[in-house]
Amino acid sequence: MPMTKFKTPEKYAYLTGFGQYQESEAIKGALPIAQNTPQRPPYGLYTERITGCPFISPRNDNHQTWLYRIMPSAHQRPFEPEPEEQFAHSRFGQKLNYTPTQLRWSPFDIDESLDWIHSMRLLGGAGDPATRSGVGFFIFTAGQSMDPKIAYFSADGDLLIILQQGVLDIRTELGHLLVRPKEICVIPRGIRYNVTLPDGPVRGYAFELFQGNFTLPDLGPLGSFGLANARDFQIPEAAFDEDTTHEYRIVAKFNDRLFSSVQDHTPFDIVAWHGSYYPYKYDLGRFMTIGSVSYDHPDPSIFTFLTSSEQVFEMAIFPPRWLAMENTMRPPWYHRNTMAEYMGLIEGEYDGRTDGGFRAGGASLHTVMGAHGPDSETHRKASVAELHPQKVGEGSLAFVVETPMLLGLSDWAMKGCGKRQENYNAQTWLGLKPHYEFPASAKRKSTLLKDVVDMDVNGYHQS
Ligand SMILES: *[C@@H]1O[C@H](CO)[C@@H](O)[C@H](O)[C@H]1NC(C)=O
Ligand SMILES: *[C@@H]1O[C@H](CO)[C@@H](O)[C@H](O)[C@H]1NC(C)=O
Ligand SMILES: [Fe+2]
Repeated sequence: MPMTKFKTPEKYAYLTGFGQYQESEAIKGALPIAQNTPQRPPYGLYTERITGCPFISPRNDNHQTWLYRIMPSAHQRPFEPEPEEQFAHSRFGQKLNYTPTQLRWSPFDIDESLDWIHSMRLLGGAGDPATRSGVGFFIFTAGQSMDPKIAYFSADGDLLIILQQGVLDIRTELGHLLVRPKEICVIPRGIRYNVTLPDGPVRGYAFELFQGNFTLPDLGPLGSFGLANARDFQIPEAAFDEDTTHEYRIVAKFNDRLFSSVQDHTPFDIVAWHGSYYPYKYDLGRFMTIGSVSYDHPDPSIFTFLTSSEQVFEMAIFPPRWLAMENTMRPPWYHRNTMAEYMGLIEGEYDGRTDGGFRAGGASLHTVMGAHGPDSETHRKASVAELHPQKVGEGSLAFVVETPMLLGLSDWAMKGCGKRQENYNAQTWLGLKPHYEFPASAKRKSTLLKDVVDMDVNGYHQS
């Protein structure tokens, strides 16, 4: 079956689909029929709504959800700023570093003392959450479950989580999500959640999109299915706690700062909901990979998994796949792109690198117009390899995230993490040798006008 064999079995049931209207009730009859705001909602619940876009967004982009809950979120004390230093390493507003050089990082160390909220370290990014532009690139490594009396949300953007190690048991307001390596998860702006680590320390990559939202790519000539299919996305089912006596703390990320507010009821008390603004997860093992069946490679956009409105963010994956192209350099060609390319590895060894320096839990960045391509050894081997249909990437899963933004890098990325490979450039490409040769008969064409053409009286070329 084209799906991942997970070590940790699934424990929750889900709704399925991408971006569609859904509804879920944990107690039968908790959703009002037809109308959204009856005078007295079923079972004495409160009605609350969360919107993910302006009211008048076009119908297909209009995402919002109606919630039927025990206590409304508004029943809370004012937010107070959290102590600054706790979150300083993930602060987007720090002074960022810019370089056109190719960069690579060895696997990032796991800090077992951190919980989810404090585990996010800013690697880099562009833009600004306050003006809703750009995207933040984070690495998370944590060893602690969140305090059982704390829930967290970010008002800054939609968060895409790519887990590399460990397991995340995420309790969201709309229900539970179990996320295992090779599953990705998206938590939209504003949705409150809490993260428990049932299988020890976790490590992974996260992207906070300040602008627009994650969506599936259009399929163009591919037709109506392929790549990530909508039916394979999983959405939590309503699940709620009852507690209106103990104190809970809501921690908010708001314009790059943490705040917290106290309330005397659980934030996870939504009994039923309906709408199209919700968290979801996806098993990357279900991706239907498409490639050339004749010669050459298509652009790597053929591997696009998620894209974003306004193309601020594109994510492609490189799952195990067959290569059968004839007379073709099978690894990627050398290139410089207008989009920055940030790569991570979830497991195994990426087929475009054989130098051993790109490892699971590490990363590389080839920034806007940064030249790159196969390392010298991969290129040498691929030039002389006998071509036959070949399966590559078995046991491996790499991804690339692209953005047109000039990414600034944090001090942590440049120095603090201690994982940046100083010799990446030299090790990867300086071994490439010129091996061209012109036969004596090859004649260099002059581009000087006087050498190649006679001019007639009107100045037109005669050939
Ligand atoms: C967070 O989730 C865990 C596990 O589901 C639970 O024990 C804990 O009470 C939750 N926290 C809140 C604030 O409800
Ligand atoms: C997603 O982005 C589109 C285009 O910018 C916008 O119209 C839509 O409202 C957004 N949806 C959400 C849920 O943010
Ligand atoms: Fe590339």
